[in-house]
Amino acid sequence: MEFAHQSIVSIDQFDRAGVDRLFALAHRMRKIENREVQCNVLGGFILGSLFFESSTRTRMSFDTAFMRLGGLVNSTVGFDFSSMAKGETLQDTIRVAQGYCDIIVIRHPEQGSAAIAASCTQKTVINAGDGPGEHPTQALLDLFTIFEERKKVDGITIAMIGDLKHGRTVHSLAKLLMLYENVHLVLIAPSTVQMPQELVTTLQERGCRVTQTPHFQEWLSKVDVLYMTRIQKERFADSAAYDRVNGTYVLNRTLVEQHCKPDVTIMHPLPRLSELATDLDTFAGSAYFRQAENGTLVRMALFLLVMDKESKFV
Ligand code: NCD
Repeated sequence: MEFAHQSIVSIDQFDRAGVDRLFALAHRMRKIENREVQCNVLGGFILGSLFFESSTRTRMSFDTAFMRLGGLVNSTVGFDFSSMAKGETLQDTIRVAQGYCDIIVIRHPEQGSAAIAASCTQKTVINAGDGPGEHPTQALLDLFTIFEERKKVDGITIAMIGDLKHGRTVHSLAKLLMLYENVHLVLIAPSTVQMPQELVTTLQERGCRVTQTPHFQEWLSKVDVLYMTRIQKERFADSAAYDRVNGTYVLNRTLVEQHCKPDVTIMHPLPRLSELATDLDTFAGSAYFRQAENGTLVRMALFLLVMDKESKFV
């Protein structure tokens, strides 16, 4: 795949060679992240960091990634302090914002918003989450984490648990995993928040083994990776429907120690609510904080590739 000057809107843009190139570069970012060396490859460049939906990790790690490479960040956070509060369209906001920066990262509550943003500007746009649609860079850092924790992805059994309907991270990660061999995807969710059928069909057409079930405990002993997700309260039109599914699955240390493989990897894109007990934080296989940290490395590498600066990085 080509990276230079490409907007990153969907994980579908990636192939295995692209992922390998990105991850090889991400590893080289570690010495910058650790401040062993300083880097000014993006000196003079400005990132437009446009977050119209809540974020801690994604926004901070995109911004940190850009600043670690020597760039500056110009951000707008939330609708209240942007002209969208006055009724400005997304299209106009992008047309204006592009004049103040060299590359744009956008998070917005509407599915398809990143693609709309990319169509309004010649500047590179990176999707940091378009409502319940996709979250491609999260999928990349999730996959990077699986490699870090388990050394290989081919042949793994991974359970995705929770709100698979509204959770954009699992939409992107499920598709990304399809680039690997013999991955068994176990989709564990209440029937009202299962993975969209269209996506399940795509996964199956690409040769993936998919199991869909509402049953949680019986799968714990069979999986290599448990990917927990939050029930996405903000995406329910009806609060009673949220109440019916909230709290369905809670993973805690007792369950893990009683049922899971000893080398199980526990992941979560965070933020977590009650679905992931804090007594797991000291469990060796709990990778979720390492996962969040990996976001900076992967996003640094992605900036270098899409800004065509890889060769300048020494
Ligand atoms: C996720 C998101 O925003 O989609 N968080 C993240 O980016 N790390 C998951 C969530 O909000 O539940």
